[in-house]
Amino acid sequence: MLKNLFYIFLLTTLILIACKEENNKNNLGLIPLPSKIEIASGKTLVDNQWSIKHNNNHTDLDYLKDLLTQSLNNHKITLNKYPNKTISLVIRTDDGLNDEDYILNIHKDKILIIASSPNGIFYGIQTFNQLLDSSERSKNGLLLPNINIVDQPRFKWRGMHLDVGRHFFDISFIKKYIDYIAMHKMNIFHWHLTEDQGWRIKINAYPKLTEIGAYRDETLIGSYYDKPHKYDGIKYGGFYTKKDIQEVIEYARKRYVTVVPEIEMPGHSLAALAAYPELSCTDQKHAVAKIWGVHKEIFCAGKESTFIFLETILTEVAEMFPGPFIHIGGDEAPKDRWEKHALDQKRIIDENLKDEHELQSYFIKRIENILSKLNKRLIGWDEILEGGLAPGAIVQSWRGMDGGIVAANAKHEVIMSPTSHAYFDYYQSEDKDKEPLAIGGFLSLEKVYEFEPIPEDIEPEKIKYILGGQGNVWTEYINTPQKVEYMAIPRMSAMAEVLWSKKSDRDFESFKERMKWQYKRLDSMKVNYRKDS
Ligand code: ACM
Repeated sequence: MLKNLFYIFLLTTLILIACKEENNKNNLGLIPLPSKIEIASGKTLVDNQWSIKHNNNHTDLDYLKDLLTQSLNNHKITLNKYPNKTISLVIRTDDGLNDEDYILNIHKDKILIIASSPNGIFYGIQTFNQLLDSSERSKNGLLLPNINIVDQPRFKWRGMHLDVGRHFFDISFIKKYIDYIAMHKMNIFHWHLTEDQGWRIKINAYPKLTEIGAYRDETLIGSYYDKPHKYDGIKYGGFYTKKDIQEVIEYARKRYVTVVPEIEMPGHSLAALAAYPELSCTDQKHAVAKIWGVHKEIFCAGKESTFIFLETILTEVAEMFPGPFIHIGGDEAPKDRWEKHALDQKRIIDENLKDEHELQSYFIKRIENILSKLNKRLIGWDEILEGGLAPGAIVQSWRGMDGGIVAANAKHEVIMSPTSHAYFDYYQSEDKDKEPLAIGGFLSLEKVYEFEPIPEDIEPEKIKYILGGQGNVWTEYINTPQKVEYMAIPRMSAMAEVLWSKKSDRDFESFKERMKWQYKRLDSMKVNYRKDS
């Protein structure tokens, strides 16, 4: 009896210790949760008596040092006074750390951020910033926990997408969006630059793409499903100059975010066809779309001029974007025009193709060939599987996970962004009347958090082809930066944790606890995130 009581006492004590440990970790407010956190006893006071140093002459380290100095200044701590208490940014390659991994160690008079590359140091600083936010304030500075964090991402593709075709967002907001990506330790900005409703990137060889294609006469009011359709009668548009693009790429580079441009083809190309109607199958005049949905006018696959046009555009795009990827869309291309057009039908016969789906595959393979000569990897939505996949293509699975599974099993790399878990244009509540107008669906924060990019029915040796996942923000019903923030955040925080943190650590209750700190952070940044999630 006594023995039993002893065991019950012991068990309860252990549970209480474990809960306290868990609470302590949650109280650090870290999002995404690091792989390993060890909290030691005691605190380290960070005040004006500290300095920052680094061990390497990599140019990024000076910038990273400034970034850290700025964070401390934001907490009213001014450094560089005394050399004996140091925050050290250490680049070294003998700890077995990959590019994005880092170690953050806080103990007495020393703070160490160790990584094998500046990218890892940047992530160490992001975590350090979060600790500054959640730390206790004393009269002179902040009391940081003595702690050892060893951290690494689970997936290498941690992306966020933004559609600037349906609505245009200027580069001051694009930079903010990149800040949100970086603070979540995400590393991909998928910039959806062309659509039926607007072409948003200046191409020197084809000025009409932006002179004509960047503007629509008016925009649908309300929902697509409200009939009869009503329009606002206001000309709408905008585009990015080469200087804008360069500025965004440089901004992203400093935050270790790769910008992936998307140039849609053969579908979602009505704005381009309004500018250059000779590349459509009908040769008729077209107008930039003013209503959402899938449009039947697509690039003609029978005309050689289409491929010359696209090669010229992709060459300019490849020159502008230093990253290794170009997304070419490939989704939702209705085949109606190709079915009726003599040149498309001739192409099917000449190339010994079975049907229009194989013609789409022929189209994408030719584009893949162009991109590979430009030293770029092609990414396409999962429709690029139809009629046969282009060699080397990366598939972005959006109509569920199946496309991704087929592609991975065929040894193609995959980005998972199924509508079920990754479409941040969906409603955030089942009670749609309480929410601003959205495209439809329902995707709660918890559902995003439950997302698992590696499907169960994938062959085990093919798991390595799943690069990661991505949240997508389509903007038919999102016409202001504030609404982008409302739709993207905090679902983006859940996606970041899914893609960075260990699967075995996934715990929605802990996530919600840590998000309380994240909300404070977002408040201080004046972000219009969705509350009460
Ligand atoms: C898509 O949502 N049409 C890729």
